[in-house]
Amino acid sequence: MRVLVTGGAGFIGSHLTAALLDAGHAVTVLDDLSTGKRANLPGAEERLRLVVGDVADQAALEEALAGQDAFVHLAAVASVEASVRDPVGTHRTNLEASVRLFDLAARLGVKRALYASSAAVYGDNPALPLGEEAEKRPLTPYAADKLAGEHYLAHFHRAGHLDATAFRFFNVFGPRQDPASPYSGVISVFLDRARRGAPITLFGDGEQTRDFVYVQDVVRALVAALARPGQTPPELPVFNVGRGAEVSLLELLAAIERLPGVRTPLSVSSAPPRQGDIRRSVADVSRLRATGWEPRTGLEAGLAATLG
Ligand SMILES: NC(=O)c1ccc[n+]([C@@H]2O[C@H](COP(=O)([O-])OP(=O)(O)OC[C@H]3O[C@@H](n4cnc5c(N)ncnc54)[C@H](O)[C@@H]3O)[C@@H](O)[C@H]2O)c1
Repeated sequence: MRVLVTGGAGFIGSHLTAALLDAGHAVTVLDDLSTGKRANLPGAEERLRLVVGDVADQAALEEALAGQDAFVHLAAVASVEASVRDPVGTHRTNLEASVRLFDLAARLGVKRALYASSAAVYGDNPALPLGEEAEKRPLTPYAADKLAGEHYLAHFHRAGHLDATAFRFFNVFGPRQDPASPYSGVISVFLDRARRGAPITLFGDGEQTRDFVYVQDVVRALVAALARPGQTPPELPVFNVGRGAEVSLLELLAAIERLPGVRTPLSVSSAPPRQGDIRRSVADVSRLRATGWEPRTGLEAGLAATLG
């Protein structure tokens, strides 16, 4: 299969690209390298093509999409904080580009479509574990764009123009997640500091929880979905992708402290809670499990693999 991966030079995208190449597919990556890196991709691989361009740019999209059998749309400004600071700028990438991509793919007949949505669409909904039907409470421009992207995708799917599936990723972690921004995945930040013996800042009481899912488990869900024909219209299939385990930040720190190679005790300093931080989050992943998928990597094994 010929597959376009937008955002394929990023954290999740580069793991997905490697897995697709391993499975024998030909991959085109469209990425503007804003947070992604060329070095995340395999060097000499004739079934891989990198188009450096903006996913909101029609010409770049046309170049990347022509001749594909399917696309996986991962390109986004993945920082909630950036969307709060610059809602107009991030909206261009996080929604406008998605609508352009869906529309062009439909016109070019590239029907099979996978879309990276986010647990952020549930906001602070306390109805845990969060099933796909739980009320959506997007609290940020990032979450609003992700949810709107799902609605647009559902439109193209209902109309029979795309054969689409949406995935709501919970907190994905693993190697190559960039710890540079304090707002990137908490695990990458904590592990980076733990490795260097640098102080870790804990916002709030540490009892806030997340559903941490290892990147390879996410990738397996996407690769399997590409191999499976989608459902027939009208309903857009939507799947949570998490581990279904609720882990507090204090439990996360304790797990990090148990890793070989980490300087203990960790130096942890407390800071006031961050405004808008979601208190608790955990996915109900029974819908994805019913397809035969299950998470294979537990928290500690995933942390060890990420630490390297
Ligand atoms: N990491 C998580 O925990 C998580 C959780 C929920 C959803 N997601 C979603 O998964 C997807 C991948 O996220 P990630 O964690 O790998 O982040 P990432 O920042 O590593 O990957 C995003 C990629 O998109 C590229 N990109 C950004 N703007 C672009 C543009 N205008 N044109 C072309 N390329 C552009 C970046 O260079 C990068 O390679 C995103 O859609 C993100 O919103 C991630």
